[in-house]
Amino acid sequence: MPTDPRKILVTCALPYANGSIHLGHMLEHVQADIWVRYQRLRGHIVNFICADDAHGTAIMLKAEQMGITPEEMIKAVSEEHQRDLVTFGISFDNYHSTHSSENFELLTSHIYLNLKKKGFISSRVISQLFDSKKGIFLPDRFIKGTCPNCRSTNQYGDNCDECGETYSPTELIEPKSTISGTDPIIKNSKHFFFDLPKFEAMLREWTLSGTLQSEIANKMQEWLKAGLKQWDISRDSPYFGFEIPGEEGKFFYVWIDAPVGYISSFKNLCTKREDLNFNEYWHKNSTTELYHFIGKDIVYFHSLFWPAMLEGSDFRKPNNIFVHGYLTINGMKMSKSKGTFIKANTYSRYLDPECLRYYYATKLNKHINDLDLNLEDFIQRFNSDIVNKIVNLASRNATFISKRFGGKLSANFTEKKLYNEFVASSELIAELYETREFSHLIREITTLADKANQYIDEKAPWIIAKNTDKEKELQNICSVGINLFRILMLYLKPIMPKLTARAEAFINEKLTWNCIVNPLIDHKITEFKTLFNRIDSKQVEAMIKEAKKDTEIESFLN
Ligand code: MSP
Ligand code: ZN
Repeated sequence: MPTDPRKILVTCALPYANGSIHLGHMLEHVQADIWVRYQRLRGHIVNFICADDAHGTAIMLKAEQMGITPEEMIKAVSEEHQRDLVTFGISFDNYHSTHSSENFELLTSHIYLNLKKKGFISSRVISQLFDSKKGIFLPDRFIKGTCPNCRSTNQYGDNCDECGETYSPTELIEPKSTISGTDPIIKNSKHFFFDLPKFEAMLREWTLSGTLQSEIANKMQEWLKAGLKQWDISRDSPYFGFEIPGEEGKFFYVWIDAPVGYISSFKNLCTKREDLNFNEYWHKNSTTELYHFIGKDIVYFHSLFWPAMLEGSDFRKPNNIFVHGYLTINGMKMSKSKGTFIKANTYSRYLDPECLRYYYATKLNKHINDLDLNLEDFIQRFNSDIVNKIVNLASRNATFISKRFGGKLSANFTEKKLYNEFVASSELIAELYETREFSHLIREITTLADKANQYIDEKAPWIIAKNTDKEKELQNICSVGINLFRILMLYLKPIMPKLTARAEAFINEKLTWNCIVNPLIDHKITEFKTLFNRIDSKQVEAMIKEAKKDTEIESFLN
């Protein structure tokens, strides 16, 4: 095991700079943030990094459509992204952009030249579909036509939505450019390739290292068995991106400079923080830990291309990639046309982000299955677990402590056995945080909350309160209740940091992992204020209504 404290670098996938952060992106940010906050709570040093992915044809065309420069668009989008992420409590240490000097430097002078020097880059002429009206080579997503396999019409250039067949865009029947609506022509152009097959042995070893999620290791073995191919890393002008050094009019494909953004965002952080040493984290013999949180759609890039690029240019490789599934809303894919496309900002105008953080936690685990945000269940689950069980545990005891005992907890603690049982759970809770088994973790916490409430129900302080010679007993019971609440809050701290901060103000103590070893005795708490209000279904209805309106505006724009 690494020495204590661990030094960890954690990333989320870099969101594209041509649209808003939505609840699907937020699933990834919340999952990573919970893990990061847990590691910090245990005293480890964590650098939590992200950036906007600012290059590529889609971004160039979107800016053009909006009548602004790509630079103007990515600046505005980045501000919006960062604002939304802060609203959801995502605690990045740095949020940078792939359109930055650090990224240009690293990619061009370090990575590309290194790969080239070692013979991992070659070039050859290929033919591609070209929109002669627009004067642009067409990415697969900007071509539509009839599937060569099942003859369904209106299919994209790379694969068919109807039969699932994948093909090259030149095989599509009657292709059309979705940009100009014209028939594309076939045109030749010189492209640059990265020699992925040379890294097969290294990738095979990485796959067998035993740290990857089993689904990912299996997928990689399939890909390796099917054989690795040369990877086309260049695009022709006009392209919004970085020009390849010495190759006029040729640009790096966005998926080359995007992951380099992980390194460059960290490099940018190093310029702001004297305690950080760039090489300590990225040197090929680094003993620090590196983890990428990503969605299942971008595993190929992170499990094959990325480790190979790093190995080939003498940087360290990630210790692991943590892959999650896709978010569905009420059982449906997030879709603009169905009104199930909810932006983070639309959500946060009607509902508290911590409710979603909690709900995601109740469903997340270390596997890659999709996760459903069922809005009925969301309301019910949050109100029942957090408001009825946990917040209520504090309020039902706090009133007596405030009114009858001047806010003082008992000087003696009467339920050592019950208390120790709660403390002993910390080992399991820790393991479940570490292994990203959040759903299991929430089950443990709510089971403890049930136990605490059961204790209070049995002791019925509201009855004891009527009997004036039982003052001491009343104070003892309520002090046990508050102390059990304190443990529950500590366990929930990485998931609901703002609720915990309010609870800390009430308990009058900053909660640390070790502080719960002993209960609080003879300790003054502050006046109890409402910690959380119930979710009202009207808030959810209003949010959905607004999401549908957003969708109409979006489709009007597109
Ligand atoms: N720009 C690339 C990533 C480059 S990383 C070097 C990209 N951007 S994205 O905006 O499309 O997605 C960012 C992350 O959000 C990805 O990990 C993706 O899997 C995740 N999600 C996007 N939609 C999602 C859902 N509906 N559900 C869960 N995660 C989703 O890919
Ligand atoms: Zn088909």
